Amino acid sequence: MTVSIEIKLTTKKPARSELHVVPIYSDSFESADLDVDKPTLRSSGFEAEEGQIIITQNSSGPCALLGLGKSEESNNDIFRKAGTVLAKTAKGFKQISVDLASVIHHGDSEADKTQSFAEGLLMGAYAFNELKSDPKPTKLSLISLIGSGRKMTNGLQRAISTSRGVNLARDLVNTPGGKLTPIAFARIASKVAKEHGLTVKILGLQEIKRARMGGLLGVNRGSTQQPRFVQLSYRPKKSTRNHIALVGKGITFDAGGLSIKTAQGMSTMKCDMAGAAAVLGTMSALEDLSFPTRVTGYIPLTDNMLGGDATRPGDVLKIRNGKTVEVLNTDAEGRLVLADALSLASEAKPNAIIDLATLTGACMVALGSEYAGLMGTDSELIEKMKKASEETGENLWQLPLPTSYRAQLDSDVADVKNIGGSYGGAITAGLFLKEFVAEDIPWAHLDIAGPAFADAPWGIQPKGGTGFGVRLLLRFIENY
Ligand code: BES
Ligand code: ZN
Ligand code: ZN
Repeated sequence: MTVSIEIKLTTKKPARSELHVVPIYSDSFESADLDVDKPTLRSSGFEAEEGQIIITQNSSGPCALLGLGKSEESNNDIFRKAGTVLAKTAKGFKQISVDLASVIHHGDSEADKTQSFAEGLLMGAYAFNELKSDPKPTKLSLISLIGSGRKMTNGLQRAISTSRGVNLARDLVNTPGGKLTPIAFARIASKVAKEHGLTVKILGLQEIKRARMGGLLGVNRGSTQQPRFVQLSYRPKKSTRNHIALVGKGITFDAGGLSIKTAQGMSTMKCDMAGAAAVLGTMSALEDLSFPTRVTGYIPLTDNMLGGDATRPGDVLKIRNGKTVEVLNTDAEGRLVLADALSLASEAKPNAIIDLATLTGACMVALGSEYAGLMGTDSELIEKMKKASEETGENLWQLPLPTSYRAQLDSDVADVKNIGGSYGGAITAGLFLKEFVAEDIPWAHLDIAGPAFADAPWGIQPKGGTGFGVRLLLRFIENY
């Protein structure tokens, strides 16, 4: 559910604040003049370590100390984490104030730290309550950050737009597959486009047929839900030659098709449109942030079901770019819909194409839940992705795309088959996608199967949809 907390900068503590929060580094905890009973706090274990928080009293009322760890190790991740911890701890208060200026000094990456802290607050306050009959939303409605200046104001503005995009992506991922059908997703995309200055084009079944998207149609064949193909476009006010294409896997539910998944394997497969959600979440923030780069989003949408006319293993599909694919496992469906989308994106000749997809269990086996796999053909683009990853704390790890593995995709009857051998499944999936990207366009592929959906909370991520990729892409586009 969208977080509707107001955050603003103020120069002094507002009188109506119910809880005053003092962020503090562990190395200044001893010497700081805090107007609290330090020995008692210390004996209860509070040392101002990173992630620690304690609610106590000072002479003017309830007050919280928020630990930031050692000042010389301070970074954006710690500020973001602190914001998250605070949002979770203070959810019983309506209005709080935070003495942010006491830990963010001039020339001390003011904008980034303010942004990280406020992102932590807004992302930390997120809960998916929509389907509960008795939701208990956070009481927090106004957070006053004590601080001022252009840099802090900018940081806060960015945090607001960015977190809105992240929380939108989380909502989409958390919405059950039977509710968020391709048509429902497309409707939400139209609404988001209208609200955030994007143009949108939605292809229905007939138009998808006319566009010769044989991958999307092949996956959709086992479903009673119609497919959709959403194309979103952001054009900055000042015209530019820089153009980035974002492609997101939008499988609204992945049952596996006739190569059906196990009950366990299927249980979280409402998350299989997390790539699409990240693209929409990212694009929703571009106008607000007035980024100077043109961005087009491509989102193929269908579920992967087992209806009576579902694609059979052995069937051959023809992708938009004319290549034929022998489908030997219908559960490797993401690459089929992405193939059409990557072909279409290539036709626009953007400066770079980035796709995001919950593509393979193999990538989760390799990297676990906190890292997305990064693959691609252009070292400059890969370096840019790595930089954005370092700056946002959304972890990527590069995997190779060795041409020697390409032979695993050779088919007896078609140009390629949709599965490789038993090992290196994330890589063979990446090599498959590469077949559908025009050779002269720099391309990066993010396999987000691990970090898109959390079975248990990690870092600042709540259980369920994480919105992974939105902060990373926004930073990448900003730096581009
Ligand atoms: N959507 C799944 C991948 C996935 C698995 C995402 C777990 C998130 C969590 C994808 O469509 C899939 O089923 N891939 C198969 C490919 C295989 C058949 C080559 C897989 O990973 O098992
Ligand atoms: Zn699948
Ligand atoms: Zn899938």
